[in-house]
Order: sequence, then C-alpha cells, then structure tokens
Amino acid sequence: MAVADKDAKGRKSQSIQTIDDSGFAKRYELGAEVMPSSNHGMEIKHAKRHSDQQSVVVKLRCKAHCFQSREEEQEWRRGAEFMLNLPHNVGVARIFEVLEDSRAFYIVMEKADGIDLFELILLAKGRSFNANAVREILYEVLQALTHLHEHNGIHRDLKLENIIIGASGLGPKSVKLIDFDTVAEWTPTNPPGIEVLGTDQYIAQEGYKGQYSPLTDVFAVGVIGYRLIVGRFPFQDEIFDDKPGENWVGSPKMEEISSKLKQQKVNFNYPVFNENPQVANLLSSMLQHNPHHRPTAKKALEHEWMADSSNKPSSSVVSLEDAWPLKARRIDFGLLGHAEVSCLPFLHHMIILPLISFFH
Ligand SMILES: Nc1ncnc2c1ncn2[C@@H]1O[C@H](COP(=O)(O)OP(=O)(O)O)[C@@H](O)[C@H]1O
Ligand SMILES: [Mg+2]
Repeated sequence: MAVADKDAKGRKSQSIQTIDDSGFAKRYELGAEVMPSSNHGMEIKHAKRHSDQQSVVVKLRCKAHCFQSREEEQEWRRGAEFMLNLPHNVGVARIFEVLEDSRAFYIVMEKADGIDLFELILLAKGRSFNANAVREILYEVLQALTHLHEHNGIHRDLKLENIIIGASGLGPKSVKLIDFDTVAEWTPTNPPGIEVLGTDQYIAQEGYKGQYSPLTDVFAVGVIGYRLIVGRFPFQDEIFDDKPGENWVGSPKMEEISSKLKQQKVNFNYPVFNENPQVANLLSSMLQHNPHHRPTAKKALEHEWMADSSNKPSSSVVSLEDAWPLKARRIDFGLLGHAEVSCLPFLHHMIILPLISFFH
C-alpha cells in the first residue's frame, strides 16, 4: 500500500491508497448526496472524517461502471495522482486523498461552500449577470487556472457546473474549481487523446481532434464569460449532433463538428458589448478558433478590463444581490414563489445552503 513516496527532489508524493472493503467506513461516515452526478456509476456525497469530524465531499466512482477501457482508467489514475500532488491554491478545491477498494474509488475533497454557477443561473431563471459580476468571476477562475497551468495541468472540462461560488458573494477568493476527473498533465508534445472530453459548447475546435492544451481551457473560460454576460451560449446548438459512441478522436462526426465550429462566428452585437467594449475584446480573443490567437490564462488576467478586479483589496466582496441587473431582480423560486433578489443573501443562507449542507 503506497501512500507517500519521495520524488526525485526528495519531496513527498501522494498516490492513490489501496484499502480493504471496510476501510472507507472506518475513516468516513457518508451523508446525503451533494448533487446527482451527470455520469453513470458515480455519486457525489457529503461525508465526515471520523478522526477530526472534518466535513468533506466524496466522489464515489464505482469500478464496474465508470470506465469504458483500461486506458481510460489508467489516464484517470494519472490525473488523480497529479491532483493529489498539486500545490494548494485557494481557487482549486483540495483533494485530500484518493482511496481504492475492490469496488470503488473514493475521491475525498474539500467541501466548497456555496453553489455552482449552473445552479446559480437556474436561480436567476437564466437571466444574465452584470459585467462587474462576470469580471469578478472570470478573474478568480483565471487565477485558479493560471495556478493549474503553471504546474503543467489542464482541466479539460471547465464549465458552469464545475465552478463553485462562495456563499458570501463574489470577490477575492470566492471561486473554486471542482471536478478533476478530466485533469491531465500537459506537455507541448502530448499525443492526441483517444476520446473527446468535456462538454459541447465549451470544447474548442481542436478539442474535437483530441488536441487539448492550456489554451483549450482558456476557450472554455471564454464560453463561461459569454454565457454569463449574454445569457446564451456562443454557438448554435444544432452543430453538436453526435450520437453516443461517436466521441472518439478521428471519428467522422467529431471531425465534422470541429470544422463546423471553426466556421461559426460569435455574435458580439449585444448592448452589453457596446457598453463595455473591453469585455467583447477579451471574450472574443479567448474564443478565437486558432488556439495560438488566444491569450494564456495569465495574459488574460492582465487585460485592461480585469484591472478593477486585480486592484481590489482582498476583503472587498460584491454581494450576490448586486450580481444581476435591476431589470432581473425578480426571481421565481418555484414552490417558494417569487422573491425580490434583494433578499437573495438571506434566501441563499436560509434556503440554498441548508439544501446542500451536511446531513440536513
Ligand atoms: N468539492 C465540492 N464541494 C461542493 N460541491 C461539490 C464538490 N464537488 C462536486 N460538487 C457538486 O456536485 C456536482 C457534481 O460534481 P462533479 O464532480 O462535477 O461530478 P460530475 O462528474 O457528475 O460532473 C457539482 O456540479 C457541484 O454542484
Ligand atoms: Mg462536473
């Protein structure tokens, strides 16, 4: 059972730990589901560590269902071990340990308090965020991504669902990246992958050819920014018409989607872009089809639109109630009826957080 070996420089390196079938229950008590997983054979649950009562989130990957091939499992193992050894950054949810018994993998991670961006958008009934709020979010995401890229990691599935916004509002240290199942170590000579990873709309044209790089992640951040500020995705949904089983690199369908995507022009004729031309300037550069025309995550942080966020004292926070334009202030809470968004921090604490808190 290898837990922590030493690397060539004498540093401790963490690896996946093998435990017996009763080992997980000896260490953790599983609680309620955090969110249903979008993947077969996986569950995301709250848990408590017996040794110190620490609340964590555990992603369970059932071995029988969650890998289609041995190569896929090997690739995932390499990504998990990369994450275990990534130096800590406040914008990247920490992976505490990865355990493995005969039936499953258990990825034990930091519980990111708050709500994912997809859920937050649902709460706002699909309405768009204002430019300042989007800038705060993108700034934090790009900082976290710079950290990952500086350590030669690539995420490959950045999207609204994989970004958590802190409960107290937007601002410094309020965003965390999660879901590292597709993370890989990257070098410029990486061979193309076997499978197209990620999620349609967020995948750049080269991703459909298996050619992922840090600039493919930057494209996904451009999509996130566009979706938040415009309220719609940048590309026509009809072009993503693949069927299950067609997402292998080199398949005629993936080639077709890649070339259709390259022909798509993103619409920047929205009032928000006329009012904020620098926003259009940054997002259009991140959404370039040629990856070499995109800025790196680090370069994007230096864009003039980002200056307001980079000059912020670390204590300043934009409350969620300021994140939507005035016209979007009325929110439908379904069974809970309508609420003015000025109540949002209250509702957030009273309704949303208890829904995701431990053993509710
Ligand atoms: N560490 C975490 N802290 C808080 N919420 C999380 C955490 N990990 C996952 N979640 C929630 O669970 C959802 C699904 O988890 P994720 O790892 O993205 O699984 P999937 O592979 O199904 O996309 C996320 O979108 C998020 O809402
Ligand atoms: Mg996810």
